Amino acid sequence: MNGPPHAADPGPEDAGAGSAGGLLVFAADGVDLHQLERIGRWFARIVRGGELILLEGPLGAGKTALVRAIARGLEVTDPVRSPSFTIANVYRGRRLTVNHLDLYRLELILDEDVLALEEYVAPDAVTLVEWPETGLDRLGEADYAVMIEHETIDTRKLRVIAGTAEAVARWDSAEEAGA
Ligand SMILES: Nc1ncnc2c1ncn2[C@@H]1O[C@H](COP(=O)(O)OP(=O)(O)OP(=O)(O)O)[C@@H](O)[C@H]1O
Ligand SMILES: [Mg+2]
Repeated sequence: MNGPPHAADPGPEDAGAGSAGGLLVFAADGVDLHQLERIGRWFARIVRGGELILLEGPLGAGKTALVRAIARGLEVTDPVRSPSFTIANVYRGRRLTVNHLDLYRLELILDEDVLALEEYVAPDAVTLVEWPETGLDRLGEADYAVMIEHETIDTRKLRVIAGTAEAVARWDSAEEAGA
């Protein structure tokens, strides 16, 4: 694959505000589930462990669907489901652990201090966070933020913002690896 599907090569440009700050590395409209799968595999190839990836977008945008695609790319065999009664699900991939956090109900859950959010971000794990707003001050600097918006019933608009120069370079590295 020569670059993520429909990348339209936006190139690094100032993306303005976004939870990760930083640079727009990917933007596509008309992303269907098949393309979401490819974007998930792209992420799976570029992560090395230690990454924090924020997933933003309204209910039903496809944040969990993207986690599922990334987990598949990392050869997670357990089913990926929304963490409904917990804040986090942890899946073992072949190479890395996938921490799947959903902070939608964080403010309703006990004392925030009992949940050491920052401990999920670990060198052998990639940490994916839906509804990250309430945890932003505790999670640390994000490597990527993904913004997903509804478009049609089966397509989405999707943008990826890299939070660091290293994350920008890493995004492009899958291409160099002949992905
Ligand atoms: N192109 C697409 N990308 C993502 N999801 C899609 C797409 N087309 C259809 N869908 C469907 O939309 C739904 C997205 O649900 P999902 O649980 O991933 O959303 P979410 O953003 O995690 O929502 P929530 O905020 O409730 O957790 C799924 O049923 C998925 O199959
Ligand atoms: Mg979800």
